[in-house]
Amino acid sequence: MIYTIPSQVIYGQDKYDQVNQIIETLALENVLVITDKGLLDLGLVKSVMDKLRISNYFVEDGVMPNPKDTYVNEVAKLYKDKAIDGLVAIGGGSVMDAAKAINVLLCNNHDIAYYEKHPVLNPGHKLFAFPTTSGTASEVTGVSVVTNSLEHRKMVILGDHVKADYAVLDPSLTYGLPRHITASTGMDALTHAIEAYVSTLATSFTDAHALVAIKEITEHINKYDSEESREKLMYASTMAGFAFNNAILGLVHAIAHPLGAHFDIPHGVANAIMLPEVVRYNYDSSEKFRVIENILETNNLYEFLKTLNTQLGIPALSDFISPENFEIIANSTLLEPSLHMNPKAVNKKDVISILSQTYGVI
Ligand SMILES: [Fe+2]
Repeated sequence: MIYTIPSQVIYGQDKYDQVNQIIETLALENVLVITDKGLLDLGLVKSVMDKLRISNYFVEDGVMPNPKDTYVNEVAKLYKDKAIDGLVAIGGGSVMDAAKAINVLLCNNHDIAYYEKHPVLNPGHKLFAFPTTSGTASEVTGVSVVTNSLEHRKMVILGDHVKADYAVLDPSLTYGLPRHITASTGMDALTHAIEAYVSTLATSFTDAHALVAIKEITEHINKYDSEESREKLMYASTMAGFAFNNAILGLVHAIAHPLGAHFDIPHGVANAIMLPEVVRYNYDSSEKFRVIENILETNNLYEFLKTLNTQLGIPALSDFISPENFEIIANSTLLEPSLHMNPKAVNKKDVISILSQTYGVI
């Protein structure tokens, strides 16, 4: 068994002295900052960069949700001849995934689609990740998820060189997050923890992190005004990342990825929507669902999750798609790699049935 956490984790508020010590050791001269326009406008990017001892940097602020292959390919081309020697990613999961992909492209020779099927040979530049959401944990995983814009599907780019070298967890960066983003990204983290816990690749190591994450996320996700809860949520979502980086995921993500790729549903929202019915489908395949129920002090995990979604104001599947879209989602789901770690086998009829239950048409 191999248990890997590819990133060094620096956690706690105002740990910028530690980060600056690393920056000075690396003697970085030209840094590319990857972020999105919203965070730039909020001043969050400036507030982080003001604390870092980096004098020369470019800002690339064009990351959109569900980042596309065309975008990361273009950005890498733009900066390839600018002698970049380090990257700083400030943002949520889309920014992290885009930054990891761009870093791969800056130091290797093909477009991103190539690396879906081929190993990434050269290490990237040193990448510092400052997550501003508590959800994807992309800052501590060896994966980048990029949308294939021609084929409308998510590509999973994996490997030792697909990573942030330093994950800087500063909970204060999440304090100003809008409630609906805290809710949806937190539900993504909860889905990571549950899917990793019941995965066919789960181990005692992943179980330990997954169970702590499940308990802490459900306890703190809706305490929006508590800084202590925001802190707990950030650490718990990271632990969920430790778990799923090793145990991988399952059917919820296998359905959520095509929902994002075809219909641009935000990743956390898609996971939250699908989680209850997938749990109901998988329930008899693993005793571990009973363990989760014990921890959450409920005798019905399905109802617990449905109620949680309602409390958090998670939208309905019918807000995004119609039943005629089920076919295309099911076909794409069956191509998703994480399906193989789901504790129960799945066929197309099963996926359509789960979508129908979630939609409320049966
Ligand atoms: Fe996820």
